[in-house]
Amino acid sequence: MKKIVAYPGTFDPITNGHLDIIRRGANLFDGLVIFVAKSNEKHPLFTFEERIEMAQCLAKEFNNVSVMPLEGLLTTCLKENNIKVVLRGLRTMSDFEYEFQMALINKKLYPDLETVLMMSSSEFVFLSSSLVREIALLGGDVSKFVPPCVGKRLKRRPANNGRGLCI
Ligand code: COA
Repeated sequence: MKKIVAYPGTFDPITNGHLDIIRRGANLFDGLVIFVAKSNEKHPLFTFEERIEMAQCLAKEFNNVSVMPLEGLLTTCLKENNIKVVLRGLRTMSDFEYEFQMALINKKLYPDLETVLMMSSSEFVFLSSSLVREIALLGGDVSKFVPPCVGKRLKRRPANNGRGLCI
């Protein structure tokens, strides 16, 4: 039976740090599904559709990576798709507390589920979506921090609901 792993996140936007985890995860498992969470409560800068599109352009580089939208509970979605492993990246000890809590709650909701925490490669430990958003909003060059197909979409445009950034 094929081992499929889910890689969920808000991906606002997806960065080279996420790509590092995706690449390594896709090598370990037969298939990897990027679940792009709607995460309305986080008020993402990029729309749900934009974040899905960015993940899709990145997934095209792999033959065993796909993208699915995630609305509602992760565990419900995973049960529906018969996926029993979740992959999450770990940059620092401060990530660990949140990841540990989420893994334990998800396990309560879906006892068959296992969470695999993968250490970030050292060159991406500093990277976060919020820093990329801030640099882009202030007109800086984020091309070093995001995959090329995502970088192309992070172009400045004067009018974008006053947020100064668009895809
Ligand atoms: N490299 C680079 N950045 C990384 C990273 C890595 N390896 N691992 C995490 N990050 C960063 C992201 O850049 C982002 O940074 P920011 O906070 O500065 O924006 C942050 O860590 C987390 O973002 P992301 O990776 O997109 O995941 P998330 O924490 O937003 O994902 C969900 C959370 C979507 C998995 C979770 O909320 C969920 O499951 N939601 C569905 C609803 C649900 O089931 N809720 C109950 C959960 S117990």
